[in-house]
Formats: sequence, structure tokens, C-alpha cells
Amino acid sequence: MKSCKLSWTLVAVLTVIVAALGYKFTVGNVKPSDDGRQAVILSKDERNALLLEMRVWLQSSQGILAAASEKDFDAVIKFAKASGMQAEADTPGSLFRKLPVEMKALGFDTRGKFDDIAAEAAKSKDSNQVITKLSVAMNNCIACHEMYRFVEDSK
Ligand code: HEC
Repeated sequence: MKSCKLSWTLVAVLTVIVAALGYKFTVGNVKPSDDGRQAVILSKDERNALLLEMRVWLQSSQGILAAASEKDFDAVIKFAKASGMQAEADTPGSLFRKLPVEMKALGFDTRGKFDDIAAEAAKSKDSNQVITKLSVAMNNCIACHEMYRFVEDSK
């Protein structure tokens, strides 16, 4: 009887721990920011890595537009792939726990949309289609920037 009670206590304790970890994983390391957004708190290196990733996304977006206007579809594919799922390997693993789940979803969706642009360029070689897809992908840029900022841990 006694050991049965003990194991239920253990189950309860473990459930609380798992729930707490799950919660942390879902909400990420955030606090409200005075500009109305959520501040995602990161180490200096993590913040730098993400901002670098952002600048690559901006370069890809401009590169895709420039290449599509010249109907250079090999260049469209090159720029789009630089921001696609393959580039996710450069993202530090520690970030996975700190970013809120919606942010991760938007980030992965954006990478997927860049891959989609590469596939469209390869398949249709239609610059209008490429530009339309880029314009839709860039709604993700707007949506995420509206919600979040990156703040360096002051420690
Ligand atoms: C999943 C969320 C998310 C998405 C999607 C996203 N960004 Fe960002 N981006 C951020 C955050 C957060 C910052 C930091 C903003 C701040 O701290 O004020 C940022 C910053 C930037 C910066 C500034 C980089 C620097 O060096 O300071 C650029 C440029 C940028 N993003 C471009 C883009 C472009 C282009 C896209 C779409 C193709 C995009 N971002 C999509 C979250 C996102």
C-alpha cells in the first residue's frame, strides 16, 4: 500500500515537471516589451545568430526579386535555397527552447515558403508566380516583426 502511494506521488511530481517543461517549451523565454510586442530573451550569441539569419532572409528576398525581374531562374533558386529548410542547420539548437512555439512555427513556415519559391522557379519558370509567392512569404516577415523583438539577456 505504502509503495503504491509513493508511486502515485512520483507520478504526480513527474506530471508537474513534464507539464512545466512543456509549458516552458511552448511559451519560450519571453516577457512583455514596452513597445507592445513580446521580447524574446536570448544570449548575445543567439541574438546575433538570429539577426544574421534575418539579414540573409532580406538578401534572399531582394535577390529573388532582382533575379525574377531578369528571368534568371537559376539565381532565383540559389537565393531562395539560401533561406530554405537546408539553412536551418545553421540555427543554434539552444534556441529551440527559448523561442515561443508560434514564432518557431512562423519561422519554419517562412523557410518552407522559400523552398516553395525555389520549386516554383524550377518548375514553371514564371516570374509572376515567383513574385506572388515571395509577396505571400513576406507577410510572415510582417506578422512576426509585429509580435516579437529580440532582447539580449542582461546577465
Ligand atoms: C519568426 C519570426 C520572424 C520572421 C518570420 C521574420 N523575422 Fe525578421 N526579425 C524577427 C525579430 C524578432 C527581429 C528583431 C526585431 C527587434 O528586436 O526589434 C527581426 C529582425 C530582422 C531584421 C534586422 C536584422 C538586424 O541585423 O538587426 C531584418 C533585416 C529582418 N528581420 C528581415 C526579415 C525578413 C526579410 C523576413 C521575411 C522573409 C523576416 N525578417 C521574417 C523575427 C522574424
